[in-house]
Amino acid sequence: MSGADIEAIKNQADSEIENVSSLDALEVLRVKYLGRKGVIVQLTGSIPGLPVEMRRIFGQQVNELKNRIISLVAEKQKTITVVSSEEAVGPVDISMPGISQELGRRHPLTQVTDEICAIFTHMGFSVVEGPEMESEYNNFTALNIPLEHPSRDVFDTFYIKSPLDPAQGEQVTSHQSPVETRDRLLLRSHTSPVQIRTMKSSKPPLAVVVPGRVYRPDAVDASHSFMFHQIEGFIVDADIKFSDLKGVLEVFARAVFGKDIKMRFRPHFFPFTEPSAEVDISCIICGGKGCSVCGKKGWLEILGSGMIHPNVFRHVGYDPKKYTGFAFGMGIERIAMLKYGINDIRLFFENDLRFLNQF
Ligand code: DAH
Repeated sequence: MSGADIEAIKNQADSEIENVSSLDALEVLRVKYLGRKGVIVQLTGSIPGLPVEMRRIFGQQVNELKNRIISLVAEKQKTITVVSSEEAVGPVDISMPGISQELGRRHPLTQVTDEICAIFTHMGFSVVEGPEMESEYNNFTALNIPLEHPSRDVFDTFYIKSPLDPAQGEQVTSHQSPVETRDRLLLRSHTSPVQIRTMKSSKPPLAVVVPGRVYRPDAVDASHSFMFHQIEGFIVDADIKFSDLKGVLEVFARAVFGKDIKMRFRPHFFPFTEPSAEVDISCIICGGKGCSVCGKKGWLEILGSGMIHPNVFRHVGYDPKKYTGFAFGMGIERIAMLKYGINDIRLFFENDLRFLNQF
């Protein structure tokens, strides 16, 4: 072995590595030169047989050759990889923006629901949920809604056919039968039945909000949907007054719509509250002057409310002389539409990303 041999090996390795065009062939060359029985190992093994004065210089040359081949192989590996990926996908334009993974987000109705629940939990309310399939008793009777009330009609409530009585639910409306013979099942038409469930299962003091889906057989249009969402709220304790209701709802309305809004309570009727009131806020678009959103009235209705009717307390076994309470209920879609200036309820349910991405 001599320096000339090393030079010859170097030239051969250079040209072999230069001419290789696949990763497999490059691996064969790597093993040939750098492998356990490869050229470099053989050269190193020949050192002890050399005259002493040659060993050091020869050793150095072998080492340089080894490092050279290592870096040539690594270089070649990179170029082959780039070329083969370009063959697969075309030339790589490294200035192109990457494919980003879009983050999901909560539905606008979920965001508004969470926001409203947070406002009430800050005031000490707890959040409770109830089933969407309810009994006629919880949805109507216990809420002091009389048998002849129009909301019980099949045109206003989805009744569920009982497997025991296939004709039921399409045949007669309940107000046509003089006595309620059986407690039918229905899709709840409001979240108020959760008042009944909660009062039956717990004792006052109670401060509860109930978000959830409700169902009514309405034809779908810009302001109606057969399924929508409500939040119910109520407080029961000794000595709860109408002024407590006013205070709580004022905190709520200012938190959602801004501290500058005005509020008014308009006398109204609900079977489950007495007295009852509808609550309006000054129009958030025109500030009360009158515009197309508020129908020139300057006011927007946001919810129904009142003092819980003594008959409701009797149905759940509370003593109406001992306890008083207030209740309120609102449509979440309506609150969200007012808050964000959305003019069509169907947008919430169509899952068009161009709409959803704005929240
Ligand atoms: N349940 C009523 C509805 O769906 C809303 C409502 C009004 C709820 C007054 C209440 C209330 O608790 O006090 O239209």
